Amino acid sequence: MKDRIGTETYFTPKQAAGYFNLSLSTIKNYIYAGRLKTLITPGGHHRISKSELLTMLEGGNDAPENSGRDGHLIKLCCNALLNTFKLLGNPGNYFLIHARSVSKISGAISKAMGLTKKEIEETAMTGLVHDIGHIGIERRVILKEGTLTPQEYELIKSHPVIGYEVINSIDQIKDIAGAVRQHHERIDGSGYPAGLSGNNIHKAARIISIAEAYDSMVSEHSYKRPVSKEAAIAELMHNRGGQFDAEIVEVFVKMNP
Ligand SMILES: [Fe+2]
Repeated sequence: MKDRIGTETYFTPKQAAGYFNLSLSTIKNYIYAGRLKTLITPGGHHRISKSELLTMLEGGNDAPENSGRDGHLIKLCCNALLNTFKLLGNPGNYFLIHARSVSKISGAISKAMGLTKKEIEETAMTGLVHDIGHIGIERRVILKEGTLTPQEYELIKSHPVIGYEVINSIDQIKDIAGAVRQHHERIDGSGYPAGLSGNNIHKAARIISIAEAYDSMVSEHSYKRPVSKEAAIAELMHNRGGQFDAEIVEVFVKMNP
């Protein structure tokens, strides 16, 4: 039951999720991220005021964090960098389309996780340029359609570090360079380039890893045969806690992509 104190209506997290048509994990993430202030009952339970949640959803609490001019510059720089994929000719179109999809999915996951507006924007921009390091690898390797030799695969694996170096050299976007470097790290430490594990991997990189895998699996533009959304989700679920951050996979699955 909803509680009324004075003229204010209070919800449990589950009631708030139902009332505002959000998932319970989204509400919890808003609380854990400190974006949604709650009353704590004597029993230690959260109660959420309707007006507080409405204010937050309408963006009122985001105002101090608006990235404004800086956010605009980040977008300009990332989009300018993205144009370099055109150097790869027609096959570069796949990188462009994939980059835009990963950016969109990463932004949506960040929003569902209850991250701040600045974090959402930065994660979306990191998604846009995460694979930019490919432009520094020999074209014959990037554009090869057959199976890669072990040496060629090692060259491909250098793209997160090359991307980091490119982005770190541009003052306006160097803050997202670290996440670009880490987008092929895995939660269990089996990824590259550094073999980082768990929360030592930047949150944006953990999000992008899931968005990238999903888009690569379902995309018509990939060189691989696309699989159904259901099969892609099953693959993410199967690898949660190993390749992927389990909590972020669950947020993504609840978004019903
Ligand atoms: Fe990549």
